[in-house]
Amino acid sequence: MSNYLIGVAGGIACYKTITLCRLLMKAGHDVRVIMTDNACKFITPLTFETITRHRAYTGEFDPGLAPDIIEHIDLAGWADEFVIAPATANTMAKIAYGISDNLLTSTALVFQKPIIFAPAMNVDMYADFTTQENMRRLLRMGHRIIEPGVGEMACKASGKGRMSEPEDIIEYLFADKILAGIRVLVTAGPTVEPIDPVRFISNRSSGKMGAAIARKALEMGADVDVVAGPVTADLSGLKVTSVQTATEMLNAVKDKLGNSDILIMAAAVADYRPADYSDIKIKKTADDMNIRLEKNPDILINIAPLKKDMQVFTGFAAESNDVRENALKKLEAKKLDFIVANDISRQDIGFETEDNEVSMFFSDGTAVDSGKLPKSGVAEIILEKAYDIFRKKNGTL
Ligand SMILES: Cc1cc2nc3c(=O)[nH]c(=O)nc-3n(C[C@H](O)[C@H](O)[C@H](O)COP(=O)(O)O)c2cc1C
Repeated sequence: MSNYLIGVAGGIACYKTITLCRLLMKAGHDVRVIMTDNACKFITPLTFETITRHRAYTGEFDPGLAPDIIEHIDLAGWADEFVIAPATANTMAKIAYGISDNLLTSTALVFQKPIIFAPAMNVDMYADFTTQENMRRLLRMGHRIIEPGVGEMACKASGKGRMSEPEDIIEYLFADKILAGIRVLVTAGPTVEPIDPVRFISNRSSGKMGAAIARKALEMGADVDVVAGPVTADLSGLKVTSVQTATEMLNAVKDKLGNSDILIMAAAVADYRPADYSDIKIKKTADDMNIRLEKNPDILINIAPLKKDMQVFTGFAAESNDVRENALKKLEAKKLDFIVANDISRQDIGFETEDNEVSMFFSDGTAVDSGKLPKSGVAEIILEKAYDIFRKKNGTL
C-alpha cells in the first residue's frame, strides 16, 4: 500500500480525478488531495473528502491547524507518489520555474522525488511553445508526464490535450517500472544532408518507432533522452535534442553517451551526403546535374570504441532483402548487443505505419521475432530485451 498525493489544478478534467482517486482507494492505497483555488471552482473539496476520507487540502494558510503541522512539508513527507491531475498549463509553468505560491506548488518544491503530471488543456494551449518548453523543462528536472490523449474537448476543439483516462493513469502508475534509475538514449527519425540552402537528401523515416521506444522507456521508469532528426512523429513531452545531419547526430550522441546505460539507435541516418555544399541556391540552368556524394560517418562504428562494458547498444537494420544475413553482419561489425531488423519490403509495417514487426538478433547467436504489433508493443519487447542484457552485464542476475 502506498500513500498517493493527488494535486488537482483548475481544469475541466477535475471530474476525472474523482475516478482516479476511487481507483487508487479501491486498489488499497491511501489518497490525499491538494486542490488549487481554481480547482475548487470546478469541483468542491467535499467531493474529494468523501471519496478519500481525508480533508481535501486547499489553502496554504488555512486557520485552525495544529501548530505542529506545516502542510506543504508534512504532505510532501507523507507521500510516496505525487500525481498532478489535471495538470494545468499554469501549474506546470509554475513548478517548472520553482514558483511556490499555493499549497500545491509549495508541496511540489518540497517533494524530492519525480512528480507525475497528467496535463489537460485546450489543444492550442497544449501545443503552445511555452507549454511545450515548460514540459521539457519538467522532464529535464526528472519529473514524468503522462501524455494527454487526442479527441474532442470540453471547449469543442478537437486534438491533443484531453487528460489521460483515469484507468490509463492507473495503468501507468502501477506498471512495472523495471527501467527505474536506468538512462536510455534513443535516436529517432531521418537525418537531412543539405545540397544547397533549399535542397537536401534524406531518408524515409517518420521517427514513430524511435518516439514509441522513448515513450515506452519513460513509462517503464527510465530517464530518457532523445536525439532526433526532423521527424513528423509527435515528440511532445520528451526530452529532445534536435539535429539535422548525420554528423550533428553523431556529435549529439557522443555528448550524451557517457550518461547513458542503454542506447537504442532507431534513427534512419543518411549513409551519404553531398560532397560539395553550395551556400547559394543552385540555378536550374543545366538540363541535368550530378551530385557527388561522400560517405557519412557511421555513428555506431564511431562510438563503438567509447562503449563501456556495462552499456547496452542496440541498432536497427532496415532491410529490403536478406534481412537475417544483413542484420547479422551489422551486429558483428558494430559490436552491438543486439540488432533489431525491419523488413521494409512489407507495406503493412515499418515506415510511417502504426504497426511494426521485427526480428531481434542477439550477440549470443539467438533470435526472437516480435510478431506484428503496434509500435509501442514492439518498443516494449525491445526495451525488455535491452533490460535483460543490462541486468546480466551489471551483475544483478
Ligand atoms: C471553464 C474553464 C476551463 C479551463 N480548463 C483548463 C484546462 O483544462 N487546462 C488548463 O491548463 N487551464 C484551464 N483553464 C484555465 C485555468 O483555470 C487557469 O489558467 C488557472 O489560472 C489555472 O490555475 P491553477 O493552475 O492554479 O489551478 C480553464 C479555465 C476555465 C474558465
